[in-house]
Amino acid sequence: MKVLMINGSPRKDGNTQGALDEMKAIFEAEGIEVECLNVGKEIIRGCVACGGCGKLGKCVFDDDIVNEVAAKLEQADGLVLASPVYYASANGTLISLLDRLFYSSSFDKAMKVGASVACARRGGITATWDELNKYFGISGMPIASGQYWNGVHGAAPGQSSEDAEGMQQMRTLARNMVFLMKSIQLGREQFGLPEREPGIFTNFVR
Ligand SMILES: Cc1cc2nc3c(=O)[nH]c(=O)nc-3n(C[C@H](O)[C@H](O)[C@H](O)COP(=O)(O)O)c2cc1C
Repeated sequence: MKVLMINGSPRKDGNTQGALDEMKAIFEAEGIEVECLNVGKEIIRGCVACGGCGKLGKCVFDDDIVNEVAAKLEQADGLVLASPVYYASANGTLISLLDRLFYSSSFDKAMKVGASVACARRGGITATWDELNKYFGISGMPIASGQYWNGVHGAAPGQSSEDAEGMQQMRTLARNMVFLMKSIQLGREQFGLPEREPGIFTNFVR
């Protein structure tokens, strides 16, 4: 089984990465393969609503990493989205990537397990966590939870490692995510995936 982690922070060894490293140690101890992508310094444009992905099955812009991330996500059983809190939200680079990744990729994401993590000096963790979970909610992806609303605190790089409760949240979240991924694999083998109706797509009622 494989987990893909996407870190929106431009600080490769920053506090968000500290949270992800705590999760990674649990995944590896449980025999789960992990790949972590640091996208915070990439130049990633936002979605331009051209609709081209509807025909191509991928984003029309092949000049940054969105389509590469899509290929990795297709192979993964779980996805961890992690962001530093910027103005009580996820950081802009990560959101540009996620809007295009989720809108343009045509493969089925249902039953891949999602988990979100936010990192702040002081405020905005729950708002950011909500924001990131929405990508899972629209994709049929079960959302792993932990013992709190997953977040760590820290300002200068490295400070999140001093947040003992935050780090415990990360370990709990990782263990719960592994359990969900394994349970879904078993369920898939034993019962099959839930039936899917052809999509109905209306703007309000028409
Ligand atoms: C543009 C910007 C906006 C920020 N906004 C917030 C905020 O709204 N709330 C907060 O607690 N910290 C805020 N911070 C602080 C970061 O969340 C904090 O330094 C965090 O540790 C960064 O994580 P990183 O080390 O993984 O990059 C902001 C930092 C930047 C650069």
